[in-house]
Amino acid sequence: MNDAKTFTNDFGGLVTNSGHASSEMVVEIDSVSKWYGDFQVLTDCTAHVHKGDVVVVCGPSGSGKSTLIKTVNGLEPFQKGNIMVNGISVGDPKTNLPKLRSRVGMVFQHFELFPHLTIIDNLMVAQIKVLGRKESEAKKKAMAYLDRVGLTVQANKYPAELSGGQQQRVAIARALAMDPIAMLFDEPTSALDPEMIQEVLDVMVELTRDGMTMMCVTHEMGFASQVANRIIFMDEGHIVENCSKDEFFEGAKSERAQQFLSKILNH
Ligand SMILES: Nc1ncnc2c1ncn2[C@@H]1O[C@H](COP(=O)(O)OP(=O)(O)OP(=O)(O)O)[C@@H](O)[C@H]1O
Ligand SMILES: [Mg+2]
Repeated sequence: MNDAKTFTNDFGGLVTNSGHASSEMVVEIDSVSKWYGDFQVLTDCTAHVHKGDVVVVCGPSGSGKSTLIKTVNGLEPFQKGNIMVNGISVGDPKTNLPKLRSRVGMVFQHFELFPHLTIIDNLMVAQIKVLGRKESEAKKKAMAYLDRVGLTVQANKYPAELSGGQQQRVAIARALAMDPIAMLFDEPTSALDPEMIQEVLDVMVELTRDGMTMMCVTHEMGFASQVANRIIFMDEGHIVENCSKDEFFEGAKSERAQQFLSKILNH
């Protein structure tokens, strides 16, 4: 779908001196700590995501990647620190979390489409129920995004009639139909058969081209090196590296990240 090389060059032009895609902040994670009972799962995590940034979150299993990403849209509460999304405080009890979540697209490992609804209805239901869009408007948007992910012909099928890769593309289209201010991904390709991974990555690459702000937990280092501009590396609940892609791949500072990279790149 894409010529990766051209894209990397295009993208390079967008990155500011700070290594961020712009100066406008979309997600501000400041000194966040979280415990499950006595177990501290996140320790003093700080990371800022700017408009247009593509941040890949990586690190060993159990390091807290999923937990961190879920705190961003309030799916996991945290006990210390602060998270702002587009200037709205996620941890403030007065914040309308369902409303905030409706504007932060989240795509998980498992597609979580409504099995009893057709693909088009899956894309329309939250637009109508949460955003209050008219049916005609919701349908127009749904069809436009299905087209974006190359699945127009599947509109009237049910999720079970689609392949895993197709279902994940529907999940992405469904999130996009809500006009998200940012997209969060948690290992969107890790449950897929190998031959379906690329089609989902291609859709994600397209999104980065459009300037979508993204935080993505993934082990796909090819994707990371192709389209991320920032990398967060986590280990045991700490953000150990938070740097530009080039800094990470050309010389991660921490020994832990170097070990991780050598394992994953020699895989
Ligand atoms: N609901 C929970 N209750 C208690 N501990 C939990 C809970 N969810 C996660 N943990 C623990 O928190 C730690 C971080 O989990 P998390 O799922 O965020 O890691 P991860 O980096 O996403 O790992 P993976 O790469 O395997 O997905 C792990 O030690 C995990 O066992
Ligand atoms: Mg995880």
